[in-house]
Amino acid sequence: MAAFSLKINGTQHEINVDPTTPMLWVLRDHLHMVGTKYGCGIAQCGACTIHLGDNAVRSCQLPVSSVGDQEITTIEGLSENGDHPVQKAWLEVDVPQCGYCQAGQIMTASALLKKNPNPSDTEIENAMNGNICRCGTYTRIRKAIKMAANTNQNS
Ligand code: FES
Ligand code: FES
Repeated sequence: MAAFSLKINGTQHEINVDPTTPMLWVLRDHLHMVGTKYGCGIAQCGACTIHLGDNAVRSCQLPVSSVGDQEITTIEGLSENGDHPVQKAWLEVDVPQCGYCQAGQIMTASALLKKNPNPSDTEIENAMNGNICRCGTYTRIRKAIKMAANTNQNS
């Protein structure tokens, strides 16, 4: 066991865990932030995506000991009231089906738009490629990302 001080969604959290514990389980089991989902556990599906700084990362393969003082953002902290442009576009397009993969999709999409506010179809394709949706909502995901990108440009 070791003590870690983590900044998550703007708040400092102190936890005592095995240093190899993946951030996914720190979030879900220790901090009860269950918006981040467990899909595969081996960095293959994207359901567990969070932001480490500005980067979208797979929390199932991110040991707590590797976080240091980098800020973590989860789906719970992406916006105050669920009104991030990506979340608004998701609602407008009515993207989710079962919903299980959607937090990961939104975290990947929002990291993309932060770095690249006006991505091409290929850039969207490349960024979202590793986020699996068993319900096949891919067409609506692409549409919502484009809508959010347009909102970005017009704001
Ligand atoms: S649960 Fe992390 S990528 Fe699938
Ligand atoms: S909405 Fe069901 S897995 Fe994506």
